[in-house]
Amino acid sequence: MANATAARNEAYGKLDAVIEKWKDQDGGLLPIMQAAQELVGCVDEECQNYISGKTGVPVSTIYGVATFYSQFTLAPRGKYTIGMCMGTACYVRGSQAIMDELEKQLGLTPGTTTPDGLFTLDATRCIGCCGLAPAMMVNGEVYGRLVTTDIKGILEKYRKLG
Ligand code: FES
Repeated sequence: MANATAARNEAYGKLDAVIEKWKDQDGGLLPIMQAAQELVGCVDEECQNYISGKTGVPVSTIYGVATFYSQFTLAPRGKYTIGMCMGTACYVRGSQAIMDELEKQLGLTPGTTTPDGLFTLDATRCIGCCGLAPAMMVNGEVYGRLVTTDIKGILEKYRKLG
């Protein structure tokens, strides 16, 4: 946890320079928040408060921007993002059962992250591999024609990578 705090403080240090550059400019909030997303990895409540304290922009405004634009995430993401396709082709080929297995194995619901920061689980639209339905992506790598018994081994592979 100490490392996470140190990493965040370092990110804030870099963010300060961006805030300094943009805080008095019209439309400056967006580039500040983009930098926060990139440096901190999300614009969570703590980060919103930090930006508000430095810029004087109300937290409610920052929260509004963070929820309006899909480029911002309100919670830290895991090292590996699992995108389970819930598009039509995958759905009719059993993606819900795969999603259920992912939820069970990870102890997550879609949109959440494991406490160790390793995995974020998402339900996605078609990922363009309908011929491989049901399919999912892990950080851009496609896994297709999935059956529930595949999931344990796939997760294990990423756990070993750490
Ligand atoms: S519907 Fe899943 S890849 Fe197209």
